[in-house]
Amino acid sequence: MNLKEFHTDTIIEPFRIKTVEPIQFRTMRERERLLEEAGYNPFLLRAEDVMIDLLTDSGTGAMSSQQWAGIVSSDESYAGSASFYRFEHAVRDITGMNYVIPTHQGRAAENIFFTTIAKKGDVIPNNTHFDTTRAHVEHAGAEARDMVIPEGQDPGNLHPFKGNMDLQVLQDTINKTGTDRIPVIMLTITNNSGGGQPVSMENIRSVSEIARKHGIPFFIDACRFAENSWFIKTREEGYADKTPMEIAKEIFSYADGCTMSAKKDGMSNIGGFLALNDKNLASKCRNLVILTEGFPTYGGMAGYDMEAVARGLYEALDEGYLRYRIRSISYLGDRLTRAGIPIVLPTGGHAVYIDAKQMLPNIPPLEYPAWSLANALYLLGGVRSVEIGSVMFGLQPDGTEKPAAMELVRLAFPRRVYTQSHVDYLLEVILAANEQRESLRGYKIISSQPVLRHFSAGLKPLG
Ligand code: F0G
Repeated sequence: MNLKEFHTDTIIEPFRIKTVEPIQFRTMRERERLLEEAGYNPFLLRAEDVMIDLLTDSGTGAMSSQQWAGIVSSDESYAGSASFYRFEHAVRDITGMNYVIPTHQGRAAENIFFTTIAKKGDVIPNNTHFDTTRAHVEHAGAEARDMVIPEGQDPGNLHPFKGNMDLQVLQDTINKTGTDRIPVIMLTITNNSGGGQPVSMENIRSVSEIARKHGIPFFIDACRFAENSWFIKTREEGYADKTPMEIAKEIFSYADGCTMSAKKDGMSNIGGFLALNDKNLASKCRNLVILTEGFPTYGGMAGYDMEAVARGLYEALDEGYLRYRIRSISYLGDRLTRAGIPIVLPTGGHAVYIDAKQMLPNIPPLEYPAWSLANALYLLGGVRSVEIGSVMFGLQPDGTEKPAAMELVRLAFPRRVYTQSHVDYLLEVILAANEQRESLRGYKIISSQPVLRHFSAGLKPLG
């Protein structure tokens, strides 16, 4: 054969589709009515009224034939099921942690962990707490303190690891607060609330060293550990020849434990865990698991969920999958950037984040520009996204309101669900919203709850 090998620029979806789910089409008029009925809150829409659902990448992925095979052959015994031991084996293999406590999802692991270790007056440092993490820290009476590097709060800055923690701020916090009031130091990989931005191995190692020097436990919020591993492989010197699995193992080797939502890089529709090395702490946490989740060998999951996670954790670390996954996000990001739409750069792992503060300078932060843009994307194209801005983060524990650091619209991609033509359609919808940006109005909150208000708030457009 005298044909030369060539390389395509197109990175195809590394799977074929065996089961399909129809998408319902609605007219713009219908969507106007549906959004009004939902109190102008996309969380309150019915999913069947959404065409492209980018609300979250959490629990919304498509499972593989291997995962379904595990589901069918699960062991549903109340205690000591074979499915638990397969799940435990996978978590131990990847994290190296001894004690594996299954929970029904990530926030259940957070609840158990923070209720056990945190108390009033404590301070918990993190690069950026996710909303449920912050809520659980505050629920335990402690203060959640974010200390991402300044580049991480500047949407246009091209720093390759914008999820890194500011080590100086961390050190100053320890000096001022005292080690006895810091029960844990956390790092969220990737940094979801800061744009899905990765944390470098160097930063993880340094945070771990600081924590160990002061005798403070170091835990990782590991929801998107596989995506973070891919960024280390492709952006950090010395990791290009390592597999995502080797990188993930190194990440976890620096930590004393982790909380995990298996709905992300566990490739599962539900599930989570708390994994840790401290035997005493593990047994305290297990007591709470029995109280709130279930017996410690299922902890809120069915045997079949544990089977799905046990396989999903490995599938998330597959190189072909990660290459496609991260490329599909940057494909959308590149096209938006070319069209002049401001987004958080460089694109992160699971989502594209539009910078609504810059796109809609006519709407002040406390009239919620990102909320307004999210609603416009639904009205124009049936696309559901989520505001990560002042509706989500503006309400302070004392009841006052303060603008969030950034006003972002997150377009989060379910794993292995949408194809490139869905993304091309989405692109057209965003461009249409951009063309009409001067017609977009701010919003006012007319009803809300004191905790995680964005999930249920009712709003009204201004003007
Ligand atoms: N930590 C991070 C970084 C998260 O992104 C999430 C969930 C959790 C913890 C909580 O996990 O949902 O299983 O209880 N994030 C979802 C999202 C909801 O849309 O980003 P959970």
